[in-house]
Amino acid sequence: MFRKAFKYRLKKMSIATNTNDRSSKTINNNSSIFDKRNSKENAIFIEALKKSFNSLKVLDSIDLVVEKGTVLALVGPNGAGKTTIVNILSTLLLPDGGKASINGYDVVKESFMVRRLIGLTGQYAALDEDLTGKENLFMMGRLYHLTYPYIKKRTNELLQLFDLKEASKRAVKTYSGGMRRRLDLAVSLIASPPVVFLDEPTVGLDPPNRLIMWDTVKKLVTEGTTIFLTTQNMDEAEHLADKIIVIDKGKIIAEGTAEYLKQLIGSERLEITIAHKSDFQKAIMMVERGEEKYKDNMYSDFENRTISIVVNDNEERVQKLKRVLNIMEESGIDVENILFRTPTLDDVFLALTGHTS
Ligand SMILES: Nc1ncnc2c1ncn2[C@@H]1O[C@H](COP(=O)(O)OP(=O)(O)O)[C@@H](O)[C@H]1O
Ligand SMILES: [Mg+2]
Repeated sequence: MFRKAFKYRLKKMSIATNTNDRSSKTINNNSSIFDKRNSKENAIFIEALKKSFNSLKVLDSIDLVVEKGTVLALVGPNGAGKTTIVNILSTLLLPDGGKASINGYDVVKESFMVRRLIGLTGQYAALDEDLTGKENLFMMGRLYHLTYPYIKKRTNELLQLFDLKEASKRAVKTYSGGMRRRLDLAVSLIASPPVVFLDEPTVGLDPPNRLIMWDTVKKLVTEGTTIFLTTQNMDEAEHLADKIIVIDKGKIIAEGTAEYLKQLIGSERLEITIAHKSDFQKAIMMVERGEEKYKDNMYSDFENRTISIVVNDNEERVQKLKRVLNIMEESGIDVENILFRTPTLDDVFLALTGHTS
């Protein structure tokens, strides 16, 4: 059956329309939401997923859906529960409660099927250092019991796609961090899985390599692959994802497009940088005292000595600018810089959780 599926994929290269899909009724007969939402359009479906490690509640009833052929970014700080979700979805960890499925297959009851549908790139690369890039790809292809012609074709495609052709004949131990990460991703794609998990794929990469990785992920999307990406970087989520889910302490706290999430916190921000740290607390107090309603819309960052205030329209812009500068002048507080900027997703995170990502 899988040979057939592979051949089918090979022919069509449109792996998202895999014939392995089937109706959800075989998965669960008594949960109506599960049946309704677990449609053929969804590559990933999670309902009321729970996980604790001893007394530590790590996932507190997570619900989410990822449509086929789209990119979901799960954004959250260290320890939010991102890797735990990835591990459950990729059958490496059992949940305590709730349900999760990939293309309609239950990750617990049908883990064997699920493993054939997914590719996983973890936070740390799992490559054989002494083998070349090409040999690593071949080795993984053999582990998947793929045919030689298929492995050869797919290896060439992946080396091309990830810009690794030059390096394909060199041992991995000579690779840079960015090349390793790309090869690691390529290896996880050897069997053309329709669903791919990328757990913090750009951690530790320098900006140029991060951009190359983003480009690579975008190319992958054009192959029709569904991508479940985790990141702590709002910018990354904004660049790559169709939908962003913000998670904190095992709970989903917001969900939507980058645009939608930004709208949650107003259209623009006025940001002042206070010249001296010793004045910072006083500056916050003065701005708050100046106008009571600032309190809810004001965020301060002690490290960077910045105070940012939400502004909603042009009139407010000018008023607030004048007012803040007056307050600072009257209080004898030196201002180093003042600017207007559009909100970033970090602002969203700060507004929703009270801390930055
Ligand atoms: N095997 C484990 N045993 C005990 N605690 C764990 C284990 N795995 C993860 N945790 C804890 O669960 C929480 C969530 O971890 P994780 O899912 O790795 O977060 P993230 O990937 O968002 O940084 C953290 O507090 C972490 O310490
Ligand atoms: Mg993690």
